[in-house]
Amino acid sequence: MKVQIDSARCQGHGRCYDLAPELFSEDDEGYGQVVGEGSVPPDEERAARLAVSNCPERAIEIL
Ligand code: F3S
Repeated sequence: MKVQIDSARCQGHGRCYDLAPELFSEDDEGYGQVVGEGSVPPDEERAARLAVSNCPERAIEIL
C-alpha cells in the first residue's frame, strides 16, 4: 500500500500528520506531504485509512 496527497486539493487542515505522523508531515506552509515515498508498512495501514477518512478535502489517496 502507498499513500499520496493531491496538492491541488490539500488545504492544510493537518489531520493527516496529526493522525498518522509516521506517514505524513507538513511542509513549510502547513500543507500535508507524504513521508518518503509514501509507502505504508502493514502496521500503519489502519492509520493510513484513518487519515484518508479524516481529510476534509479528500486529498489523500491510497494506491
Ligand atoms: Fe491536507 Fe487533508 Fe492533510 S487537507 S494537510 S491532506 S488532512
